Amino acid sequence: MLINKIKNINIYKKKILIRLDLNVPMKKNIITSNERIKSSFKVIKFALKNKAKIIILSHLGRPTEGFFEKKYSLFPIVQYLRKKFKNTNIYFKKDIYKKFKINYGEILIFENVRFNKGEKKNDEKLAKKYASLCDIFIMDAFGTAHRKEASTYGVGIFSKISCAGPLLTSEIKSLQKSIKNPKRPLVTILGGSKISTKFNILKNLCKISDTVIVGGGIANTFLAINNNIGKSICEKNFINLAKQLKKKYNIIIPIDSKIIKITKNIKKYKIKNSNSIKKNEEIMDIGNKSIQIIEKIIKKAKTIIWNGPVGVFESSKFRNGTKKIARAIANNKKSFSLAGGGDTLAVINMFKIKNKISYVSTGGGAFLEFIEGKTLPAIKMLQKKYINK
Ligand code: 3PG
Repeated sequence: MLINKIKNINIYKKKILIRLDLNVPMKKNIITSNERIKSSFKVIKFALKNKAKIIILSHLGRPTEGFFEKKYSLFPIVQYLRKKFKNTNIYFKKDIYKKFKINYGEILIFENVRFNKGEKKNDEKLAKKYASLCDIFIMDAFGTAHRKEASTYGVGIFSKISCAGPLLTSEIKSLQKSIKNPKRPLVTILGGSKISTKFNILKNLCKISDTVIVGGGIANTFLAINNNIGKSICEKNFINLAKQLKKKYNIIIPIDSKIIKITKNIKKYKIKNSNSIKKNEEIMDIGNKSIQIIEKIIKKAKTIIWNGPVGVFESSKFRNGTKKIARAIANNKKSFSLAGGGDTLAVINMFKIKNKISYVSTGGGAFLEFIEGKTLPAIKMLQKKYINK
């Protein structure tokens, strides 16, 4: 992929604008996971080492443009960074249109870009304003690379020089390694509740994988081709599409399932064959026979792509399938394993296997769009700005 990378650009004593994804989960203005902030340290440290004038932009949540709301303020994140970079002056400013002064080796963080009118629509005036703040624009917000907004796209177009930061570069490298040139066999595990939101991803993964293992509501839709699935989550209008995929590709569907049955307010749980589910039963997890089959497949994989739990992992009663699959991926030390997307990170943290996965993406929607085969807008922008020196 032809894009400028920060390592090939001279940022020494330059005024640089870095777009980060500091969109971290918060409760009552307290950060509950700092993973994404930590992923941004590399570019910040590199910029400090190069004595640049460092300006940082990020979004947090989805506020209404033009209205300040405390719960969406980046202030708690600024405080966190001040603690981590004790010897650096870190300023925090609300208004990008007001004049400011910054010295070499100092950082200025602007308030949540999504308070700025025009951000979402990639407004040209706003994008030009951002671009006017710097000599070089550095895009390092992989998690937001699928958004064509003023601070992720337009700014890069109007900046003199635009390049990818280290996080974006390593995300692209790892995702491409799994998708474009994977070592075979490539095994994909796709879980989650709704096939409708992941159908195009599933289609693309089927095309590139040797085996696709489906779980959760996605698997139920496949089971529903030939079976009664009782009260289980299923999107009926996708059954035919699932049938077509099943005919063409090697898709593994759970042969047994853990079900819940509620009669007269009494809950009963049982593992049974997936082809004998009754009207009043609901599939909540995969069963032991399926786990054994899947473990064997994962053990032989040379590349693994994983997104989504295979059961209702939030409840300890229906966590076993997801836990066993997570462990099987973590234990296959000979493979290159890639994981990403919303719930997957929660699962990885729950089972404490992050350091056993070759690459855990910081992206949610961006990760999914990338593995769907789309070119993300921020990457398109960087391709447009490529300078062949
Ligand atoms: C994310 O959390 O996936 C990114 O920060 C993007 O956020 P958005 O979906 O609100 O654009």
